[in-house]
Amino acid sequence: MVNAHLTQAKNIKNDEFYTQYHDIEKEINSYIEYNPDAFKDKIILLPCDDPEWSNFTKYFAQNFKKFKLKKLISTSYAIESKTYKEGFQTTLFEKRSPNFDKKKTRINGKIFTLTKDKTGDNRIDIDDLDWQYLEGDGDFRSKEVKKLRDEADIIITNPPFSLFKEFLAWIIEAKKQFLILGNMNAITYKEVFPLIKENKMWLGVISGARTYIKPDKTKQTMGNTCWFTNFEHGRRHRPLPLMTEAEVIKFATKKQFEKYDNYDAIEVSSVKNIPSDYKGVMGVPISFLDKYNPEQFEIIGMCENEDLYNLKTKIYTTAECKKAYIKKFGKKGTYDLNASGVITNEGIQEKVYQRILIKHKRIKSKK
Ligand SMILES: C[S@@+](CC[C@H](N)C(=O)[O-])C[C@H]1O[C@@H](n2cnc3c(N)ncnc32)[C@H](O)[C@@H]1O
Repeated sequence: MVNAHLTQAKNIKNDEFYTQYHDIEKEINSYIEYNPDAFKDKIILLPCDDPEWSNFTKYFAQNFKKFKLKKLISTSYAIESKTYKEGFQTTLFEKRSPNFDKKKTRINGKIFTLTKDKTGDNRIDIDDLDWQYLEGDGDFRSKEVKKLRDEADIIITNPPFSLFKEFLAWIIEAKKQFLILGNMNAITYKEVFPLIKENKMWLGVISGARTYIKPDKTKQTMGNTCWFTNFEHGRRHRPLPLMTEAEVIKFATKKQFEKYDNYDAIEVSSVKNIPSDYKGVMGVPISFLDKYNPEQFEIIGMCENEDLYNLKTKIYTTAECKKAYIKKFGKKGTYDLNASGVITNEGIQEKVYQRILIKHKRIKSKK
């Protein structure tokens, strides 16, 4: 319980992490390289944003002409509604604007729109944004922002970390194209994994540690973040170069692949050691998704407690879980064997790390 509170507190703090301009630029460049017209004539909505603090609006405003956008809309969340308010003052931009309203400044969200060169300087950029207060606080779940979502073709943002699942469901129910930042661990959520399995969503191009800007302008690095998207990109169609099973054993692992006790699959603890000629199911780390090519592999399921994909060949009883714990740790306890793939080594049952179960789509040479 204490841990759950700590995690929630951390997530709430992370809700105010802002994305760096070059991280947005590097990722978007990959989609444009793959399809230069990816954003042509589209309405992009950047919810959970705020051009005064965030770089998403700046980036898309600066590239409005290059991407041939139809309209850019971004909305911000009211300062008083934020769970973490420290460092948020009304900016000079807002105070000096004729739209400034003393009553609304902290309790209303804002909407920024961009459609044309308003300033007449022959280019479209951040200075051409129109803005006004929203009627509500800019919560993405509000009717007002939902309406904007429905009007948009594409949703892009780094959503509040603590509301990731809800935010993703909000996009999916509206059937939009999207690109959002999140933590890689979200892959294993039961609300997220089915979308990946069914190829309705995949990982973006650049995953790993990323540095964010906090409201006090200091930086914070978070490991293991990735983009989730349904935009096509080139990396996703590049085959992963692999060795045959015999080569992996000879040059890398020096031993046969082990089979799980509770799944009809082999344990492959490193993505680079996925054997190119294995016909059956293989359990691989979640970082595999960073290399996943849907023409090369099929995702069958995941090692998880609920057996959502009917893949378990064995369900352990409470007595077996207790016995396994005593054997492994030499004291009383329960080893939750049903939560993962299990391998027996010299009579001791071992849970392996989180695994995704995959299969080759086509095998060139028979096993
Ligand atoms: C992780 S920050 C990212 C900000 C910006 N998109 C960026 O990447 O630079 C998430 C933002 O969503 C806002 N937010 C939190 N809860 C929200 C909600 N229910 N509706 C809309 N925005 C929310 C937070 O205040 C924060 O500004």
